[in-house]
Amino acid sequence: MKIVFGCDHAGYPLRDAVLKHLKDMGHEVVDVGCYTPDPVDYPVIGEKAARKVASGECELGVIVCGTGIGISVAANHVRGVRAAACSEPYSAEMARRHNNVNIISFGARVVGEGLACAIVDAFLSAQFEGGRHAERLAMIDHILP
Ligand code: RB5
Repeated sequence: MKIVFGCDHAGYPLRDAVLKHLKDMGHEVVDVGCYTPDPVDYPVIGEKAARKVASGECELGVIVCGTGIGISVAANHVRGVRAAACSEPYSAEMARRHNNVNIISFGARVVGEGLACAIVDAFLSAQFEGGRHAERLAMIDHILP
């Protein structure tokens, strides 16, 4: 699968472990940075990652900031993106199965390397169930801004 990865400086400590895990799993990774621990604004990275998914260049995304929250809020501003911040695998799995989330995020100040990789695995191995969940997502699409 082609997956976009992005992180800000606070997510940077998980960068190498998550990238290695994705590549070890055989995924092709599009890396939108950041590439150093220097401070960078999470909305910039969240938008970059989200555009890769919204354009169809990447199927799914993994983004990391300090909490996972700010970068997912930013990504959710791009039409067609459903990003969710998850701190454990069950939520990550259900985010895909019920909410058709296409970008998962988590915080490097919240989870360690092992949990981060477990969250990624749960997210990537789950499938959207459609049916009543698709109807509910359509309702969300019809909420006026
Ligand atoms: C950066 O200090 C931090 O605010 C950011 O990584 C993220 O946690 C925001 O939600």
